[in-house]
Amino acid sequence: MAMTVRFQETGGPGVLRLDDLEPGDPGPGEVLLRIDAIGLNRADVLFRSGQYIEPVKQFPAGLGSEAAGVIEALGPGVTAFTVGQPVSVIPNFSQNDYPQYAERALAPVTALVPRPEPVDAVAGAAVWMPYLTAYGAMVEIGRGRAGDVVAINAASSSVGLAAIHTTNRLGATPIAITRTRAKRQRLLDEGAAEVIVSTEEDVAGRILSLTSGRGAEYVFDAVAGPGVVELARAVAADGTHFLWGAASGQPTPYPGFELGMPALNLRTYSVQEISRNPERLRRAIAFVSSGLRTGAFRPTVDRVFDLEDIIQAHEHLESNTHFGKIVVATSR
Ligand SMILES: NC(=O)c1ccc[n+]([C@@H]2O[C@H](COP(=O)([O-])OP(=O)(O)OC[C@H]3O[C@@H](n4cnc5c(N)ncnc54)[C@H](OP(=O)(O)O)[C@@H]3O)[C@@H](O)[C@H]2O)c1
Repeated sequence: MAMTVRFQETGGPGVLRLDDLEPGDPGPGEVLLRIDAIGLNRADVLFRSGQYIEPVKQFPAGLGSEAAGVIEALGPGVTAFTVGQPVSVIPNFSQNDYPQYAERALAPVTALVPRPEPVDAVAGAAVWMPYLTAYGAMVEIGRGRAGDVVAINAASSSVGLAAIHTTNRLGATPIAITRTRAKRQRLLDEGAAEVIVSTEEDVAGRILSLTSGRGAEYVFDAVAGPGVVELARAVAADGTHFLWGAASGQPTPYPGFELGMPALNLRTYSVQEISRNPERLRRAIAFVSSGLRTGAFRPTVDRVFDLEDIIQAHEHLESNTHFGKIVVATSR
């Protein structure tokens, strides 16, 4: 049996409850995991509240797509991993199919990354999604280069911080954007070349002035909504505005016509473009692993909650006061 987080209806953090469930035996292409740590993601909150791009298929529903643990059993035909092996789980599946908020859970073998001994479970749950997301947009798809300028909003999020580190690793210049002045110094400490506090400053104006009027080659936008028109003003000619989150919760207009049809590439982006493509994923794992080896990349863990405190963990995420990844541990 295993304590498992489920919800019977969509809503606020209070809909989450703990049930004692039997996860079942792994089928072909699956493993059974003892989950030691779970990485929280905004997608989990949106899924729980019925606002995610993918709706809940069936109640009671589970949730979660990032974790770290140890393999307890292999499904038929699984030979690439062994029982007892420490692994991380990366998001390449639907939360409807393989929810990870539990003490034990099934996972598809394609979502496993070996976790070397020095990487503990908390780090193993925190590190992959942010860096895979940033790598995919910045390197695999965006083809970012030294000398580029990259503007990153929601920069204190786990993905935003990974984007700052990735930008620096390429020799490009990260401009971090936050609504919260108190996060400014920490963003500079994480490697931001400049920080713009969006509640106090003209964001597009600052980006244009920092780039001598050229604009940023890339904007990594986790907020979207009406603010895209303003941000798109600060994209360099032929630059790319990646929409990779929708934290604003509001409809997103297409800014091209309002801005006089500049050469603007506006692109939605999902980490699953990387995690579901074996060749892209192989390159991504190599890139992230090399950054972890040199210390250029590291998990930035905001706080670790116990599984019993899952409601408080979601409330903390929704408070937006965090800096980096919120992790839930099952066995401390
Ligand atoms: N496309 C993909 O494949 C993919 C994968 C993973 C995550 N994401 C997206 O990437 C983003 C970051 O995810 P995460 O889980 O690392 O962190 P997160 O918890 O969603 O982000 C935390 C920070 O975002 C800022 N924020 C929140 N709501 C905002 C709003 N309405 N306007 C402006 N800023 C806001 C807040 O910082 P301040 O207000 O203090 O600046 C907050 O502390 C999310 O939007 C998520 O959906 C996308």
